[in-house]
Amino acid sequence: MNKKILILTGSPRKNGNSDMLADAFMKGAQEKGHIVNKIEVAKLNISGCTACEMCWTKDGACVQCDDMAEIKPLLESVDVLVLVSPLYFFGISAQLKTAIDRLCAYCAGNCKKPLNIKESALIMCGECDEERFFSGAIDTYRHTADYMKWKDRGILIATSVTAKGDVLQGDWLTKAQAFGARI
Ligand SMILES: Cc1cc2nc3c(=O)[nH]c(=O)nc-3n(C[C@H](O)[C@H](O)[C@H](O)COP(=O)(O)O)c2cc1C
Repeated sequence: MNKKILILTGSPRKNGNSDMLADAFMKGAQEKGHIVNKIEVAKLNISGCTACEMCWTKDGACVQCDDMAEIKPLLESVDVLVLVSPLYFFGISAQLKTAIDRLCAYCAGNCKKPLNIKESALIMCGECDEERFFSGAIDTYRHTADYMKWKDRGILIATSVTAKGDVLQGDWLTKAQAFGARI
């Protein structure tokens, strides 16, 4: 079955390591016939959730007017959400986390347009040479997936990846492409 997949990337670095991982994942998924969109959230102007709770009284709609509007139509139509981020101080990048926080608007009981996302995946890269340094980010992802009732389809962590292009060393992109192919 062809799936609709949205990849949200969190690095501000153009053509950086995580972006390359995202593109490899996308290639694998597209080769299997899935429909894949990628949005680089760091290029967008997305404000943090203000906890105004207006979405909870206004049918699940956030009252903030910003570039979240570009993501919304895709978020509301896809089956699979893939989060891709560099490790920033042992967590998901602030740019991506800011977009994730805005999903709060979809958690209201009276939300008229609940998300249809059923599955999710996480792809990360970082300078650290062991996966244990990614545990904070992985926990955040796992708890979020549980809370949102997304079935976790897997996690790919590219370690010892620092300078732009480091991800080309080793077989990270092959792994990311294979991950996309089995999503
Ligand atoms: C603000 C900042 C914080 C970072 N924090 C970490 C970290 O805590 N652990 C780590 O292993 N790498 C850290 N890094 C390194 C990046 O995760 C690494 O360079 C990664 O490959 C960048 O991916 P990108 O090219 O997609 O931006 C940090 C980099 C920046 C700019």
